[in-house]
Amino acid sequence: MTQKEMIEEIQKLKEKKNAVILAHNYQIPEIQDIADIVGDSLKLSEEAAKTNADCIVFCGVHFMAESAKILSPNKKVLLPVEDATCPMADMVNKDDLVNFKKENPHIPIVCYVNSSAEVKAESHVCCTSSNALRVVEGLKEDTVLFVPDVNLGSYIKSKLTQKNIILWTGYCITHHRVKGSEVEKVKTKYPHTKLLVHPECNEDVVKKADFVGSTSEIIQYASTCEDEEFIIGTEMGVLHSLQNKNPNKKFYLLSQHLTCLNMKKTTLEDVYKALYYEKNEVKVEEEIRKKALQSLNKMLELGR
Ligand code: 13P
Ligand code: SF4
Repeated sequence: MTQKEMIEEIQKLKEKKNAVILAHNYQIPEIQDIADIVGDSLKLSEEAAKTNADCIVFCGVHFMAESAKILSPNKKVLLPVEDATCPMADMVNKDDLVNFKKENPHIPIVCYVNSSAEVKAESHVCCTSSNALRVVEGLKEDTVLFVPDVNLGSYIKSKLTQKNIILWTGYCITHHRVKGSEVEKVKTKYPHTKLLVHPECNEDVVKKADFVGSTSEIIQYASTCEDEEFIIGTEMGVLHSLQNKNPNKKFYLLSQHLTCLNMKKTTLEDVYKALYYEKNEVKVEEEIRKKALQSLNKMLELGR
């Protein structure tokens, strides 16, 4: 099959099966182009919650498809590539949280959406990079545990100084490796250019940024700001939307290491096969799902 034929087949299968294709901003351009909705974690969770489709094909990583299943238990959720996972999500597990709660029964746990359903089920509330500040600020308790991302946690801590935020030690292998010295280098090359970064970058990078936000917030900022060039400190997949929405603007990637291999695994053929064979269905045990749903619902309530 040629690429054109494959795209046509995907469209036909989508209609036949009443399916919707959701794609994260880090997916390869071909996937973003065939998706019904492209966005950040928050937008994709919200869309998963309200779609009328019978089947959701989630082009992203496992925790994202799992969140869609938690929010839409009666829909079939397919992850085109079974081993597309987020290494950070595995940096905290259910037992860690059960033990923490035993010793600290009054400290609420806030989990970043990049976490397993089991971790969400043991947490009080979930958050994404775009609503983390609102969620933590909205909690009545002064002390909270934030898992698993040490960098997003540190960013919230720097903004909400009235809160005592206990940090976990997880991190995104893609964002964390960008060094402060790379910022210096690129700023020397493009001295008057704003730096827009994701809060998963480490503190050295985040504190030098002109804007910190989720993938969609970065795209929104660059598209509405009058400047004509920007340095982008997040996974390179966002360059596709940035360039499409702003054909006359220039975007420079902060580092050449900003590629998430898991986000790059999904191809058009994988989407076609997932739809055709309805394979790689993501399932969540009902008891865990119900508890995880409470964390996600609390996020949607506090994070607006
Ligand atoms: P966003 O919520 O900004 O899309 O981030 C998800 C993610 O995995 C970033 O690495
Ligand atoms: Fe996980 Fe980082 Fe990839 Fe996002 S970019 S999916 S946090 S490894």
